[in-house]
Amino acid sequence: MKIEEFERGLSDRVAIVTGAAIGNGRAFCERLAEAGAKIVIADIADATHVVDAIRSAGGEAVAIRADCSNPDDAATLAKTATDHFGRIDILVHNVGMYDEEPFELITFAQWKKVMEVNLDTLFLTVQAVLPAMKENGFGRIITLSSNTVWLGTPYLAHYAAAKMGVIGFTRSLAAEVGRYGITVNAISVGLTATQKPDDSGRSSTILPHILPQQAVHRADEPHDIANVVAFLALPASGIITGQTINVDGGAARH
Ligand SMILES: NC(=O)c1ccc[n+]([C@@H]2O[C@H](COP(=O)([O-])OP(=O)(O)OC[C@H]3O[C@@H](n4cnc5c(N)ncnc54)[C@H](O)[C@@H]3O)[C@@H](O)[C@H]2O)c1
Repeated sequence: MKIEEFERGLSDRVAIVTGAAIGNGRAFCERLAEAGAKIVIADIADATHVVDAIRSAGGEAVAIRADCSNPDDAATLAKTATDHFGRIDILVHNVGMYDEEPFELITFAQWKKVMEVNLDTLFLTVQAVLPAMKENGFGRIITLSSNTVWLGTPYLAHYAAAKMGVIGFTRSLAAEVGRYGITVNAISVGLTATQKPDDSGRSSTILPHILPQQAVHRADEPHDIANVVAFLALPASGIITGQTINVDGGAARH
């Protein structure tokens, strides 16, 4: 792959990124836009600031308020992308949540919420975009898992179950849609130094304990993951599918 292809290899491609008002999702939008993609953001929160940042850097983007666990919103998201930009090439399904709790204290309502936000949203968003990708004969679906599935991190039984589900989904769907030029890959992310507006992120308190366990002793930053997203989204990555790439500074030597 030539360097230019990595830098601007997504010109005229259309990418949907879910859960992109803040955190990793925002970094994915900006990195894909930098590589030339037109961006459609779906979040329950307002993402106008991300659209503005992309536009002021010379890119194209739109955002919609959508709850990806709602079938109608997922359908509207796909329609927004095709209405605005005429096609859908890339889906980065980034929506997810964790909720630390000792197993015996996890309520059934918490369990279902974690499944809904991590897995129902994945099912609905992918079902909504797949027809447009099949029609194009091209697609890149990138899903977000977590290194907690390799590490067996305590107090996250519900989250780890959901994120292992993301990997199973990724492998199975990859086998189904490869014939249409569509790849499906997961990224298992380590604890990332995402900046939450209220600084309530787990990263600030837990990172000092995690860094010594990593092979590379610096925090995983959103742009580290965004580079892997951009790589997997490229046309030149078309032979890579059904895989899970672990991006966590080598905490899990998976
Ligand atoms: N940050 C980490 O340390 C870390 C570690 C491992 C894996 N991950 C995974 O990476 C992804 C992003 O993590 P993050 O920390 O950047 O998340 P975040 O909590 O900072 O942001 C999530 C975004 O998703 C949106 N969202 C939540 N539910 C939604 C719904 N139903 N529909 C639409 N939007 C919704 C929120 O409004 C928010 O903007 C998640 O899948 C997460 O599980 C994160």
